[in-house]
Amino acid sequence: MRTVHSLKELRAILRGYRQQEKTIGLVPTMGNLHEGHISLVRKAAEAADVVVTSIFVNPMQFGANEDLDTYPRTLIDDQNKLDEAGNTLVFAPSAEEVYPDGLARHTRVIVPDVSDGHCGASRSGHFEGVATVVSVLFNMIQPDFAVFGEKDFQQLAVIRKMVRDLMIPVEVIGAPTVREDDGLAKSSRNGYLSAEDRKTAPVIYQVLQATAAKIVDGRDDFLALAQEAGESLGAAGLRLDYFNIANSQTLKPATQEDREVTLLAAAYLGSTRLIDNISVTR
Ligand code: PAJ
Repeated sequence: MRTVHSLKELRAILRGYRQQEKTIGLVPTMGNLHEGHISLVRKAAEAADVVVTSIFVNPMQFGANEDLDTYPRTLIDDQNKLDEAGNTLVFAPSAEEVYPDGLARHTRVIVPDVSDGHCGASRSGHFEGVATVVSVLFNMIQPDFAVFGEKDFQQLAVIRKMVRDLMIPVEVIGAPTVREDDGLAKSSRNGYLSAEDRKTAPVIYQVLQATAAKIVDGRDDFLALAQEAGESLGAAGLRLDYFNIANSQTLKPATQEDREVTLLAAAYLGSTRLIDNISVTR
């Protein structure tokens, strides 16, 4: 498996694959790879001849008080894991390669509606940064398809809409959330948790499941349900950012008519912010 850092080198290699009529799948990541990321690589490898995993800690999607500087960078470990998963190529560009004129002068992609609310409300500019870097990566690599995790449900919705609105010829594929044995969604940020907070963290998924079960049983007072769920997280020692129940497509507040609803939660343990979600058909 090769790792390339420059766009020029990447394009030369990909040109060769295209001449051989090989299909290309992309898995965009910020590195510090775990089983969740690897599941996306395996999914891409099932469908494409060539799998490119990008590793780029994208400064544009981090807020001023967020963890850009401390975000774990573990390229050697990541390469070893990707090698075992059947990845073909790692693309690990520098910030200069992605943003040649600098962050402030770079053209930005704004995806309305689905970027509002949920994480978009508490992380101002976050999805603008995500949509911008993903569109740059799509143009750099020009994959046939790209795989994203449902773990970041709103991000997946933002990318699906961007691809639709900008007519980007990339098929977007969603992949299910990979969890620890106790239900906690795998995340690079789980490594920030103290031993005590790590024991509390699975409560997020437990409350999501319990709330989903009530919806399946017929409750449709979504605002009250979300309120109760938020209180349960607070009682367990988490600091609530939000607990919302939304239409799975639009991400707007769920109504009694909605058949597909998604429960989205974000909460802090110490300074670590964790997110998770569950979708329910009623
Ligand atoms: P990152 O957090 O590294 O995640 C990369 C991909 O892995 C995303 O599609 C994410 O949804 C998926 N993923 C993370 N944890 C997962 C889990 N437990 N199960 C399944 N999939 C999981 O998301 C980003 O990076 C960035 O925003 C990016 C899209 C790369 C743009 O910078």
